Amino acid sequence: MSEQRLRVALGERSYDVIVGPGLLAQAGRHLGPLLARPRTFVVTDATVATLHLAPLTAALAADGIACRPIVVPAGEATKDFAHLRRLIDDLLDAGVERSDLIVALGGGVVGDLAGFAAAILRRGTGFVQIPTTLLAQVDSSVGGKTGIDTRQGKNLVGSFHQPRLVLADTGTLDSLPRRQLLAGYAEVAKVGLLGDAPFFAWLEVHGEAVIQGGPGARAHAIATCIAAKARIVEADEHEHGDRALLNLGHSFGHALEAETGFGDALLHGEAVAIGMVLAFALSSRLGLCPAADTDRVRRHLAAVGLPAAIAGIAGPGWSGTILANRMTQDKKVRDGRPTLVLVRGIGQAFLSRDQSFANLARFLDDALGERTA
Ligand code: GLY
Repeated sequence: MSEQRLRVALGERSYDVIVGPGLLAQAGRHLGPLLARPRTFVVTDATVATLHLAPLTAALAADGIACRPIVVPAGEATKDFAHLRRLIDDLLDAGVERSDLIVALGGGVVGDLAGFAAAILRRGTGFVQIPTTLLAQVDSSVGGKTGIDTRQGKNLVGSFHQPRLVLADTGTLDSLPRRQLLAGYAEVAKVGLLGDAPFFAWLEVHGEAVIQGGPGARAHAIATCIAAKARIVEADEHEHGDRALLNLGHSFGHALEAETGFGDALLHGEAVAIGMVLAFALSSRLGLCPAADTDRVRRHLAAVGLPAAIAGIAGPGWSGTILANRMTQDKKVRDGRPTLVLVRGIGQAFLSRDQSFANLARFLDDALGERTA
């Protein structure tokens, strides 16, 4: 399948998201027109560097563009103040100017970190996202959310800073382990679950092909997710309203990630998968959503191999109160109450401020209790 060009229309901050195979090899052609001088600063992590840095550097050189690579450690722990400071130092030492472009080559961690560095460097430097994971291609590289984690929680320090271009080379997904693909697939399913029931029904049939890279299926899913996200971001760039629907499963998921230490024990997408099931289960318990829809969500996520129940990952000391306390640090807490994404059914998400943390703790206690049921 050839490349598709999708537009995020945000006035003077508008940009294209190009999706397709082989885009890394054409990076010079796509970046060239955006550069004030033939020089880029590529931020990547140690894992992605071994796979994709040399091809990207060669592709840029073929169009006469010099490339200064900066390699950060792989993993969520890199999204902190210490690594941000080091990256800013490296970029300034390398002579990056405000009119230059910083290129984020990698997954969500590199995109969020490099994007935030670009946002604050010289009061705002341009950047380009070249996402190399399914999760980053369908979600984090589009929409301009950038930032780092603190000990209190995920993404608590950051900025909205839109990229100038996103190059989603679907060929880079072929080197991903299945677990990483599944973690990204959770965000794919999220798009159907929050607002596109026919897409979720399509995923129930074609989900495995999306994960395995079946002809056409993966590209269709990625383009569908990006188009949906573009419409949501265009309507609510700074998340004053409906953009928060993209956080379906994330408030619960962030609590689970925090409790498991933001590491390999539970990947972000895995936490989101469990979090989405919890959001559906809570909605059903409140009488808002048919139980059959919650069962469908749980069944599909489990069928592709994602964790779909808190029982499978909970540690011995966990309680509803501990998890609900984690959720009090969420950015969407307002006047002491969480903003939750709940559902009236598949494809019908809405924002709710009706739940107290005490209610959440009771619900989570019951969900945890199911491990012995
Ligand atoms: N990943 C959610 C958002 O970009 O709003």
